[in-house]
Amino acid sequence: MKKLIVYTSVTGFTKQYVQWIAEATGADVIAMGELSKVDVSSYPVIVYGGGIKAGNIRGLKKFKRSVDLTHRKKVIVFATGGAPNTDEIMKKIIKQNFTHEEAATFDFFYFQSGLNYERMKKIDRCLMAIYRKVLGLKKGKNATEKGTSQALMHSYDYSDKDHILPLVTMINEA
Ligand SMILES: Cc1cc2nc3c(=O)[nH]c(=O)nc-3n(C[C@H](O)[C@H](O)[C@H](O)COP(=O)(O)O)c2cc1C
Repeated sequence: MKKLIVYTSVTGFTKQYVQWIAEATGADVIAMGELSKVDVSSYPVIVYGGGIKAGNIRGLKKFKRSVDLTHRKKVIVFATGGAPNTDEIMKKIIKQNFTHEEAATFDFFYFQSGLNYERMKKIDRCLMAIYRKVLGLKKGKNATEKGTSQALMHSYDYSDKDHILPLVTMINEA
């Protein structure tokens, strides 16, 4: 069955996950900006991946506007982000990015990645600096906020190929 992965990646984390998934599934891959180059309608299985920015999955709105997702065998969305993979984080991302109907019909995965200050856009580096400052000044931080505050100080990479296994199984069994 033909499968396509469409992705948006600014600092490379999502692209790395896409490469791992493509190797394991034989899926075709296209960056969101090149979507017009493929006949998307010929893919029964379609995957979208993007990094998270302030809770929003980058490029997902545009992807949903650009691609007719009805009558697909499977629609899978995955997000990469600096935060650890917890039920709470998953629920927040789903609530912020999907309608009830989408949440019921799409499959969603979240993979922890990291932060790469060197590859970030200048505007994003500035946003991170502001966020660091605000969080640093916050009094009575809870454990999660303390951890985030520390994590934001430097680039880091917790990407792990093993995270993709459930998604790969789902694609291969579709
Ligand atoms: C401006 C900015 C905002 C971010 N916001 C979040 C966030 O809300 N939650 C999160 O888990 N990670 C957040 N991150 C981390 C990115 O989601 C993470 O680095 C992601 O893997 C980037 O994907 P990419 O390298 O494919 O662009 C943020 C990063 C930047 C630069």
